[in-house]
Amino acid sequence: MTDLAALFAQLSREPDLDAPELQAHDATDRLLLETAARLLDAGGVDPSPSSPRIRAGELVTIGDRHGALTLGAAALLGARGIRVHQDPLLGERALAANAERLGLTGAFAHHALDASLLSGAKLVLLQLPRALAELDELAQAIARWADPQVVVLAGGRVKHMTHSMNAVLGRSFAEVAAGLAERKSRVLTARVPRSSNELSEPRFPIWGGDPELPFALAAFGATFGGADLDHGSRLLLATLRADPPAFPGEGRVLRAPERIVDLGCGNGSLAVAAAGLFPGAEIVATDQSRAAVAATRLTAEAAGFAGRVEVVRADGAEAVPDGWAELILLNPPFHSGAAVHAGVAHRLIRQCARALAPGGELRLVYNSHLGYRPLVERTIGPARELARTKSYTVVGAARR
Ligand SMILES: C[S@@+](CC[C@H](N)C(=O)[O-])C[C@H]1O[C@@H](n2cnc3c(N)ncnc32)[C@H](O)[C@@H]1O
Repeated sequence: MTDLAALFAQLSREPDLDAPELQAHDATDRLLLETAARLLDAGGVDPSPSSPRIRAGELVTIGDRHGALTLGAAALLGARGIRVHQDPLLGERALAANAERLGLTGAFAHHALDASLLSGAKLVLLQLPRALAELDELAQAIARWADPQVVVLAGGRVKHMTHSMNAVLGRSFAEVAAGLAERKSRVLTARVPRSSNELSEPRFPIWGGDPELPFALAAFGATFGGADLDHGSRLLLATLRADPPAFPGEGRVLRAPERIVDLGCGNGSLAVAAAGLFPGAEIVATDQSRAAVAATRLTAEAAGFAGRVEVVRADGAEAVPDGWAELILLNPPFHSGAAVHAGVAHRLIRQCARALAPGGELRLVYNSHLGYRPLVERTIGPARELARTKSYTVVGAARR
């Protein structure tokens, strides 16, 4: 039997944020894999005694963080043709890098959350997402497209799990059972997908909005903030109206910015608001999350700005050429997965220095207690505080 501890020890989070306190695997990965192995040993997903434990293409992983689940399934269960869905691009890249190191690159392929991921799937290993909306979307997709015999093993850290997760799975599966907690993780097993008559219409994308926005916001289950306007972004938008950015164009004459980046665009609220506020501007909206770029595309299309808002799935500002941006709007994440970590925001702020044109402005909102201003001043240039509430601060800094 493959030694999972030895396999996990070889995994790295790179190129996702790496820090000594953050790991590339957790006890849930191990519990999911051990539960799957027990299920297959007991004849679980295919009772025919002559068949291999699991045939190529029958296993799907969803929400694998950095490859522990997928590569663990390849090594421990002998699975091949594994179909993988990961929302963040850096998770996909970490899995690919780990696979390369372990010689398992041919064992899996990435897919969007659609029939190509799930049709004919017999076993789904799922790292439970934090948001119930995301779980709801995933469960509905599995029930809709997977094999009727599919077994879903959905695992999480006990401290992040709630009874509502069982209820959400129960909307799409007739049988949901909770396993015993082991090493502070637990696995929920879902079987018997509800029939297409019982499953309602796909519940995603959802649409929302805000009285301050003259357009609707779209969201998928994993889109940051859902279909609402984020409070920090609301404050940032207020400063764009009260204190509009001005770019030193030809002859250093100040004018409205014409090349704008929404860095980490989520549901597209900032990109599409900027398209309305700066009618002459070309906008690049970029995010590493599949659910964010899909939502931003819909938000921009519905607002009639699809032609002016280019939406790109990319890590940080990598899709923005050096010195291209005359304005960058940034409401950075303060999480790396479940861990609260300032490193992601620091990295994005540093990348803005490269992507901004000289004289171009970074307009940044952050939780007031995080105090990013010294970093902004070091990497971009002198910063002006444009708004401050108990919760959020907005600063503007022009690149030296
Ligand atoms: C706080 S949310 C802001 C979303 C949106 N701009 C808004 O205001 O509602 C941060 C966004 O950054 C994205 N993000 C996190 N790490 C990223 C990275 N390395 N590259 C690009 N986007 C990233 C997340 O997916 C998330 O959508």
